Amino acid sequence: MKVLVGVTGCIAAYKACEIVRALQKAGAEVEVVMTKAATSFVGPQTFAALTGHPVGLSLFDDTTDPIPHIRLAEGCDAFLIAPCTANVAAKLAMGIADDLLTSTALACTAPLMIAPAMNVHMYENAATQANLATLRARGVHVLDPAYGRLACGDVGAGKLPEPADIARAVLDLLHSADAGALAGRRVLITSGPTVEPIDPVRFVSNRSSGKMGSALAEAALAAGAQVTVVSGPVSVCYPDAASVIFVDTACQMLDAAQRCAPDADIIICAAAVADHRPANPAAHKLKKDDDDAALASIAMVGNPDILRSIAEGKRADQVVVGFAAETDEVLANAQAKLHRKGADMIVANEVGAELGFGTDDDKAAFIMRESVEELPLMAKRQLAERIIERTCNLLSEIS
Ligand code: PMT
Repeated sequence: MKVLVGVTGCIAAYKACEIVRALQKAGAEVEVVMTKAATSFVGPQTFAALTGHPVGLSLFDDTTDPIPHIRLAEGCDAFLIAPCTANVAAKLAMGIADDLLTSTALACTAPLMIAPAMNVHMYENAATQANLATLRARGVHVLDPAYGRLACGDVGAGKLPEPADIARAVLDLLHSADAGALAGRRVLITSGPTVEPIDPVRFVSNRSSGKMGSALAEAALAAGAQVTVVSGPVSVCYPDAASVIFVDTACQMLDAAQRCAPDADIIICAAAVADHRPANPAAHKLKKDDDDAALASIAMVGNPDILRSIAEGKRADQVVVGFAAETDEVLANAQAKLHRKGADMIVANEVGAELGFGTDDDKAAFIMRESVEELPLMAKRQLAERIIERTCNLLSEIS
């Protein structure tokens, strides 16, 4: 995969060196194109040394290549402009092509991502916001700048995000652009609640609807995977193309998941499994008056931990992802779960009246051993795509 990195005239231009390095570390070949203003902040020789390629600076200087913008545009799988000044964002929005970088952007049909970085007032200016909205509407991937103290001393939105986060966003983009990123792969998903009987008509359960598991199944199918869902009782419909095994209890879910796990490349445990079950479910319906004592005090026993047992038995070529549903201390609790359960990643989601169980939207964070990525509130289907993209990255790192 080849990434073209465009660098524009901004104090954060030096961070583009780290972005180039992070992309190379992930296996990308990188070429750099710079505006004239960018060369006032970082010398092109730095990027030439980092990439092993001459740096594109001008439409006319290279006598061996009469149309460098077309070569650069056609030769990349993604074009990242980071940092992207207000001026260059405005030119892109207007279709102005008055130097090598903007001409390349206009000629490029590969996915384009920009990371705007500038003073907060320039960023918030209606003209800049309108230009960014135009670019987004045309399918350009516009990264939100970070909030903090800016080079000019102002505090606000306008900082370039961390180079590692930008590089990761480019990699996610590359993977999502590849419609068949999971072609030939198998994905196993646990979904929905478990129900643990007290007697033949009563049970202990929770409010999981299966919406998250269904969204994950759709996203994995869209990426070309064969999908198996092991689900507790739900009213959502899973995609027809997924094969679904319905179960009731945590023990049944464990049994089905363990049977399917050896065939799976990716295992995602999104189910809300009851941690405990009634120790001695009654064979007959417990009756008011006659069975008051039994109903008033139901002895519980611990359920098996499905995620943990699958993570313990996983092969080196498998990726195991868990969820953490938390009401407080979301990140800290999820981090503890990542280690305790031995998963490769935990999707931490805040649960509450309007979030998590049964809702259409979710606010989540990806917790990995060395990084945390907090995501904004989004539809579960969109979150599912992000999870699948990230999981594809984890899979490609180990394959
Ligand atoms: O189905 P929806 O209405 O769309 O709601 C989605 C969801 C909120 C249920 C989902 O996003 C989610 O967070 N699922 C995990 C809920 C949960 O019970 O989390 P937990 O913190 O108790 O468990 C942590 C992880 O261990 C989870 O991956 C869970 O599947 C797994 N686990 C837990 C207990 C157990 N005995 N076995 C397990 O495998």
